[in-house]
Amino acid sequence: MGEVHVISHPLVQHKLTLMRRKDTPTSGFRQLLEEIGMLMGYEVTRDMPLSTEKIETPLEEMDAPVLEGKKVVLVSILRAGDGILTGVLKLLPSARIGHIGLYRDPKTLVAVEYYFKIPEEIEDRDVIVCDPMLATGNSAIAAVERLAELKPKSLKFVCLLAAPEGIAAFHEHHPNVPIYTASIDRQLNEKGYILPGLGDAGDRLFGTK
Ligand code: URA
Repeated sequence: MGEVHVISHPLVQHKLTLMRRKDTPTSGFRQLLEEIGMLMGYEVTRDMPLSTEKIETPLEEMDAPVLEGKKVVLVSILRAGDGILTGVLKLLPSARIGHIGLYRDPKTLVAVEYYFKIPEEIEDRDVIVCDPMLATGNSAIAAVERLAELKPKSLKFVCLLAAPEGIAAFHEHHPNVPIYTASIDRQLNEKGYILPGLGDAGDRLFGTK
């Protein structure tokens, strides 16, 4: 089965608890998701390859490490993906950004695509897909399927919470795409929400309820 990395860093876990609390306001939720995005981004980029570049310090020349290859692409699955992406972007300020718009049909829970805009030369770039909730996995599976057709150099999936059902479904379709998450929660409820979870990530992030 595919790789799953649970980011157990104490700061991530503490901030996640604050996000789960139902009385955490929109401003706090937004701020925390960005902070966790940044901390998770640090782990997700740990294996990025380096090459060297000749530079001059004020004292002498040296071969100094730099990130190898073309700029990374961060892809947000709209709309809640923007919250994590903002944090990862703080670490990779030159990253290119793509958006995939998917909504869940409330009856079937199937992902329906309404927007797809991805940077060019993706075949030479590493792609990090961001979506806070890996619930049924339907939208993540659909988004990664569309991206995989473009043959990026690599693909990784980053979420805040994952349900065991979502992980299984995702890796059934995409066994070679590693998942990075802050927590594997207990289960999905009958409406496809993660338990214990944190509610609707989009609504909590944007204050729409
Ligand atoms: N999407 C959410 O925002 N929350 C869940 O619990 C599941 C999917």
